[in-house]
Amino acid sequence: MQVLMVCLGNICRSPTAEAVFRNRIENKNMQDQIQVDSAGTGDYHIGEAPDARSLAAAARRGYSLAGQRARQVQDTDFRRFDYILAMDRNNLKELKQRCPSAQLAKLKLLLDFGQSGHDAVPDPYYSGPAGFDLVLDLVEAASDGLLEHILKTHFESSQTS
Ligand code: 4NP
Repeated sequence: MQVLMVCLGNICRSPTAEAVFRNRIENKNMQDQIQVDSAGTGDYHIGEAPDARSLAAAARRGYSLAGQRARQVQDTDFRRFDYILAMDRNNLKELKQRCPSAQLAKLKLLLDFGQSGHDAVPDPYYSGPAGFDLVLDLVEAASDGLLEHILKTHFESSQTS
């Protein structure tokens, strides 16, 4: 299973989602079966490391974003990934415009998973530190829900047989 987390710049929300979801995968020792990557719909920050505020907020909760570099969504991503998860409705709209119709079912909001009561991960770029903590709160809850969904949908029968 290949999961792609998508935001606008790929320097705040989706790198955070990549690191948190990878942590959940590793906690279940499923890193050989489930892989995660992230990308942005925009091209503003290609090649850059994650925002220092995202790095700091993630580090306070024990997650490392080290080694991540921003990239833009590629046409090949729509075939390569099984789940393509947007952080907000603008990201989802951009993805829908680019995605071949045969792959549209792969596109979802990350917050469709888990029960945070929110539908979008708000862009923290122009916010204070609380915005970066909210990103982590929402992404952590959704990552738990997403992993549960993937295990139930794609792995449960093979694990119990
Ligand atoms: P992200 O945050 O989409 O969570 O990576 C942003 C990063 C940069 C910009 C906007 C949002 N920007 O406008 O440069």
